Amino acid sequence: MDITVLFKLSYGLYVVGCMDGERPVGCTINTCFQVTSENPILAISLNKNNYTLEAIKRNPRFSLSILAEDSDPGVIGQFGFCSSRNVDKYADYGYDVVEGAPLVKGRFAGRLILDALNFIDGETHMVVLARLVDTVKGEGTPMTYDYYHRVVKGKAPKTAPTYVAERDEVKEAPKSAKRRYRCNLCGYVAEFEGEIPADYHCPICKVDATQFSSIS
Ligand SMILES: Cc1cc2nc3c(=O)[nH]c(=O)nc-3n(C[C@H](O)[C@H](O)[C@H](O)COP(=O)(O)O)c2cc1C
Repeated sequence: MDITVLFKLSYGLYVVGCMDGERPVGCTINTCFQVTSENPILAISLNKNNYTLEAIKRNPRFSLSILAEDSDPGVIGQFGFCSSRNVDKYADYGYDVVEGAPLVKGRFAGRLILDALNFIDGETHMVVLARLVDTVKGEGTPMTYDYYHRVVKGKAPKTAPTYVAERDEVKEAPKSAKRRYRCNLCGYVAEFEGEIPADYHCPICKVDATQFSSIS
């Protein structure tokens, strides 16, 4: 079976946000669609290992921020390559709580406030059906998943439902005499003549040089 045909499916890119008690948590997703038109219900797909799913099971109110082509692409990596279990993903961006759900600050094409209604088992993932409660207008052209791969040159981790190794695997640079450093979050390997520069940032997930470990 030629699974590259799946690349022809189109998606957007979103940040899901949920209050886990007093703490905002959330993750990047590319899977969201509108299921019904009247009193709309939407569906998202969340990996069972994602902390955001645990939080939404406890607190059904969540937000969905729709990325625009000119949104800060760093937010995709920040929310998509590490877990709210051990990282405060909102620390660099800030957030507002709107109707009980956190909205990460920044430019987005729009925001939705939703209430989870139902969780449908999809083996590795749960499909979350959610009622639309409110909307917040935004600006910009919505970013498609294709734009993210083609223009932003972004990747997706294995927890994304649409992960494909040949497209999304972060390739290691060939071995050389240079020093090699691996990103602790997404696994990207960078090479330098000497020490990793202090102002270096991971091109995939945007974390700074302190998040890299020397591997040779
Ligand atoms: C471009 C992109 C798309 C993603 N799409 C999804 C998705 O649709 N569903 C999902 O569960 N995870 C998706 N992920 C992965 C989650 O964002 C990632 O596993 C995250 O670390 C989960 O964080 P959490 O543990 O705080 O919930 C995607 C990540 C990226 C970068």
